Amino acid sequence: KRKIAVMTSGGDSPGMNSAVRAVVRAGIYYGCDVYAVYEGYEGLLQGGDLLRKMEWQDVRGWLSEGGTLIGTARCMGFKERKGRKQAAANLITQGIDALVVCGGDGSLTGADLFRSEWPSLVEELVNDGVFTAERVEPYRNLKIVGLVGSIDNDMSGTDSTIGAYSALERICEMVDYIDATAKSHSRAFVVEVMGRHCGWLALMAGIATGADYIFIPERAAPAGEWQAELKKVCQAHRDKGRRNNTVIVAEGALDNNLKSITAEEVKDALVDLGLDTKITTLGHVQRGGTAVAHDRWLATLQGVDAVKAILEMTPETPSPLIGILENKIIRVPLMESVKLTKSVATAIESQDFDKAISLRDTEFIE
Ligand code: F6P
Repeated sequence: KRKIAVMTSGGDSPGMNSAVRAVVRAGIYYGCDVYAVYEGYEGLLQGGDLLRKMEWQDVRGWLSEGGTLIGTARCMGFKERKGRKQAAANLITQGIDALVVCGGDGSLTGADLFRSEWPSLVEELVNDGVFTAERVEPYRNLKIVGLVGSIDNDMSGTDSTIGAYSALERICEMVDYIDATAKSHSRAFVVEVMGRHCGWLALMAGIATGADYIFIPERAAPAGEWQAELKKVCQAHRDKGRRNNTVIVAEGALDNNLKSITAEEVKDALVDLGLDTKITTLGHVQRGGTAVAHDRWLATLQGVDAVKAILEMTPETPSPLIGILENKIIRVPLMESVKLTKSVATAIESQDFDKAISLRDTEFIE
């Protein structure tokens, strides 16, 4: 019987439980045994009780659970070949040769590296006398499929990542709360949101809440000049009768000298304008909580396709990433997507902001 494992890795994101549930149930539906790897890559390294066979009922009710119920961890051991060799031994011991990883670009890159090393790791395990050649024969190749679980929506080649719309929803809800108290006191608020090097959450939240101003990494603000522009815009809105100001700052916001723009600096500019100004850093409330419907169905459809992809893959098929493009679930080469995602950072560093945006939007058609 075919054995598949599913794991979550990197920062948790709402919808990861829906993805695990879908992989478990689709796997069982297609006649496979499905294992959950608990605690991310740490679970692969330690094996034993962290590699658990899942039954249909084990994932009951998971659609409405926040976080990741199988845990996640940042694992240094898996970054070393020695750790990956141990992980390969643990998988072969259980008879698993296919892995669905739900995580960000770092976790998915690690997974693809594991796949490319796998044949040599297996060979070493035979040479070390851990397994006989006959024992490993059915496991000469590892299949990897990636699902992007991240609130940041920072992966090229897919329109949305699992968790991004849930975090966006939470941010909008929080900004609405903030706006109510801000209007009461005629205050200005600087709201710092997550997103790492990506401004998607800040931009979409700013549009959805009607913020006065938004700072994002992909559109660096002119150093030494943005303060005057910000003040002009906020004052213009006050002149039109607005009782409050909301400025959304992405945590990765930059000026065009590639220096971070901090919430404190933004506050200073608004105070200079004479506004009673407060800062709210939303933090991890953005990441916790239950998934919105979008992330639940996205993770479910992608989880089912991940199992199908595993069953269809040959050793030559490049590891696929299951994405979504114009409302259709698609498969794109995982490493192509990772490469494009990395080139966004390079474009930002060289201040080619239009290129950064177009690279993030680059689409693959199968
Ligand atoms: O990648 C998801 C994310 O929430 C980012 O938006 C943020 O920069 C980072 O993870 C925070 O990581 P941690 O929870 O380890 O502090």
